[in-house]
Amino acid sequence: MMQTIRSIKKMQQVARKIAAEGKTTALVPTMGFLHEGHLSLIRRARKAADIVITTIFVNPAQFGPREDLSKYPRDEKGDIRKIRKAGGDIVFIPKATDIYPDDFQTYITVERLTRSLEGESRPRHFRGVTTIVAKLFNITQPDVAVFGQKDLQQAYVLKQMANDLSWPIKFVIAPTVREKSGLAMSSRNKFFSPEQRLEACCLYYALRTAEAMVKSGVKDTVKLTKEMRAVIRATCPTAKVDYIALSKPTSFLPVYEVDRGTFCLLAVKVHGVRLIDNMKLR
Ligand code: PAF
Repeated sequence: MMQTIRSIKKMQQVARKIAAEGKTTALVPTMGFLHEGHLSLIRRARKAADIVITTIFVNPAQFGPREDLSKYPRDEKGDIRKIRKAGGDIVFIPKATDIYPDDFQTYITVERLTRSLEGESRPRHFRGVTTIVAKLFNITQPDVAVFGQKDLQQAYVLKQMANDLSWPIKFVIAPTVREKSGLAMSSRNKFFSPEQRLEACCLYYALRTAEAMVKSGVKDTVKLTKEMRAVIRATCPTAKVDYIALSKPTSFLPVYEVDRGTFCLLAVKVHGVRLIDNMKLR
């Protein structure tokens, strides 16, 4: 039977009991409205530990003032059902007022890794992510934490935080799950009409173009990004590119020539919805 826990204290008691029994736990933090991408993380966690804890918390601290916190989709009942089916043991759903009481004033900041890309476009976003995940680590005491590759910079920022703060947690970064069209699964895809959903594939098409160019020997990142912009324009003429970057996860700073370990990462606003995606090019 899957257990649903809403109180922080109760979750801490259960985590202590699991550890006392000598069992290991894997944590899958989510903001709910689960899709196949999240479920793949739960299935991956299932393989990594005895007990899988999934958390659902739409974290206000990681949304900017003009971002979509109030519009963020929610479906708690559906989520609980999906987590049970995917093999979850515990779902932890804390209240915002318990996580951030009125006198809350402590935040975690990872420095260098958060200065570029998502960190540059969304000031204070990563501060919110690291703070909530630090709290979830403290509350659930996991041995393993599973994150999706779609949020590549987030996964590496969190890994950095865990290393810097000496949390003995093994990180698993699981591959991005895509729709048949190539569109990366995201809770935000629900905002699209069927036609807009096709246009949202512009990120994937651009990445595949870069991948093919690199395979054929192109290394110059200026050439690659120029071609990617053209593909985005052709697929979704109204798209607004936030960034297209070629970087390595060690720094997330730009590389000028693609070599081993280079990823392409991009953020594009499609019909008012900000999407991100990435692919390893070599
Ligand atoms: O990737 C997400 O859904 C969120 O950023 C996370 C890791 C659950 C923290 O709120």
